[in-house]
Amino acid sequence: MAGPLGTHTLTAGRGLLFGGDYNPEQWPEHVWEEDVELMRAAGVNLVTVGVFSWARIEPEPGARDFGWLDRVLGLLADAGIAVDLATPTASPPPWLGHRWPGTLPVDESGHRLWYGARNQFCPSSPVYRERALALVTDLADRYAGHPALALWHVGNEYGQICHCDDSAAAFRAWLRERHGDLDGLNEAWGTTFWSQRYSDWAEVIPPRRAPYLINPTQKLDWARFCSDALLEHYRAERDVLRERTPGVPVTTNFMGLFKPVDYWQWAPEEDIVSNDWYPDPADPLFPVRSALTHDLTRSLGGGRPWLLLEQATTAVNWRPHNLPKPAGQLRLESLQAVARGSDGSCYFQWRASRFGAERFHAAMLPHAGPDTRLHAEVRAHGAELRRLSEVAGQPVPARVAVVHDWPSWWALEEAGRPSDRLTVPDQLLSFYRPLWERGVAVDLVPPSADLSGYALTVVPNLYLVSDEDAAALTAYVRDGGVLVVGPFSGVADPNGHIRTGRFPAPLRDVLGASGEEWLPAPEDRPVRCAWADGTPFDARTWTELLRAEGAEPVAVFTEGDLAGRPAVLRHRTGAGAAWYVATLPEHDALAELTGRALADAGVSGALAGPPPPGVEAVRRGPVLFLLNHGTTEARVPVTEPAEDLLTGSRADGTVTLAPRAVVALRPLA
Ligand code: GAL
Repeated sequence: MAGPLGTHTLTAGRGLLFGGDYNPEQWPEHVWEEDVELMRAAGVNLVTVGVFSWARIEPEPGARDFGWLDRVLGLLADAGIAVDLATPTASPPPWLGHRWPGTLPVDESGHRLWYGARNQFCPSSPVYRERALALVTDLADRYAGHPALALWHVGNEYGQICHCDDSAAAFRAWLRERHGDLDGLNEAWGTTFWSQRYSDWAEVIPPRRAPYLINPTQKLDWARFCSDALLEHYRAERDVLRERTPGVPVTTNFMGLFKPVDYWQWAPEEDIVSNDWYPDPADPLFPVRSALTHDLTRSLGGGRPWLLLEQATTAVNWRPHNLPKPAGQLRLESLQAVARGSDGSCYFQWRASRFGAERFHAAMLPHAGPDTRLHAEVRAHGAELRRLSEVAGQPVPARVAVVHDWPSWWALEEAGRPSDRLTVPDQLLSFYRPLWERGVAVDLVPPSADLSGYALTVVPNLYLVSDEDAAALTAYVRDGGVLVVGPFSGVADPNGHIRTGRFPAPLRDVLGASGEEWLPAPEDRPVRCAWADGTPFDARTWTELLRAEGAEPVAVFTEGDLAGRPAVLRHRTGAGAAWYVATLPEHDALAELTGRALADAGVSGALAGPPPPGVEAVRRGPVLFLLNHGTTEARVPVTEPAEDLLTGSRADGTVTLAPRAVVALRPLA
């Protein structure tokens, strides 16, 4: 889990962190002074500097120009603004790719990706590694002990994938570690299929573009390797920083449910977990998706406070049609992250760029300058975050776990499966949403987690599961846990091979049921189901042919070949209960089912009852946050007299929340 340093070295004496990416290299020096003055006026206390400054620091191979950065850091230090200093290795200068084309990434078709954008590096290139580490070493030596240096920011949003020959060599080395010899590899990859047997390691390559469906285990291992190869590079940079500046925490900015990188493997390698989050205003479920993402980020750090390092004050520039955020939305989204464990709220970026690909991306200081509605909102928000200082460091305790696993995600969504309509992000959101609506706190966990502290564990999908993890889930229920398992789980082993026998083979005992056919449903027709009392509900997309083996069918399919067959089962076993959901119930039905499972587990939400629709309720330490994401005024009963930390006003009985309003209620002693 996250290392010992945590966020407290940052929040001590500062309270919650507020700021953004600061790219002074895009501006003449006289602007820097204005920047720092405006930052102070806005309550900014942390800025991320240097993310894309490699070409400025090293204008030609081996040269160093730190003068400008000395002056920037000096100005910030004088203003008491802490710096999250980036290793600028996410965007190498053109000279690197020009002189050493092998540092540039190659796509699956063998095409080299050129400079002119960013991220143009091969994680396995020895030249890239050497040049990056030389620069990181000098950067660390230069700023070790600098009063502004509070946090290291390694690279940026790691996710680059490369299929070149260097990557192929590194992939082979990785495969030898995993599978031992070629026999092990051939066995794991199932190469008797389609004449794919390898007779020499030199034949083994990344999944490059091929005439038809590529071996799914080759792709699964490749996904594992790509995440590990990036992690190895991150570690190399981090180790240089740790050696030269012990005591300065290290982070790298994550991207929530980002498929290519297994953050369960990464997070323990950081001192502080941080995340970048850009919810889409056009997505009606974005408040739920945001809550899920924030819970994931907190959980990656083992529940410790984390940091929202990037978000947009209003519109981004990289969707085809970029909706702005209405007044008050910036505050609502920022406080949502704080309520879910972020020890601050930072943005991309401080000052809007005049040029470059992000010239239309929102910032804390827009092109129109400080005399604007947006900047006024930014300043007001900076001021109010200071009133929440006591929240820093507080935990968000949860009794419900939701399982998420990257390798299972990769394996599930591989080509050539029964239906591509079943995806991990959709299943996670569907099962998470009813918990969010009831104000039930949730931790995300990997399948190997110790679940003993959780009364309810929800597994929206676990297509791939190891024998050990399946046994642990079984033991969890035997020992009194309540388990809910979504469809098409327990299907494959860690090599992605289908487990034979009635499914889900390794979970059959605990679920008290088993199946024999997966039956995707026509998309233009609902799947008709009914609860045991006959009340109908609809599901969609997916059905399974199951039989109960000790479990009680709590809902059945009511039409077609499956009429009368179980759709949802509940199995009381040992001291606990296990639920299996063999279809995708519509939201209200899943909410009903979730309510019953919560009752089985004896878990309730942050309030005495569910909050009104659209209102999010979450407790962080002693503080109850209520956030109105709805479009109408909401009235929320609160049982204990409390003070709203944001306004200092007293709440007693009922709190009235206008649309986009937030209160942070601390009980009165
Ligand atoms: C992030 C990135 C930033 C900026 C931002 C724009 O992906 O880290 O540098 O590009 O997106 O939304």
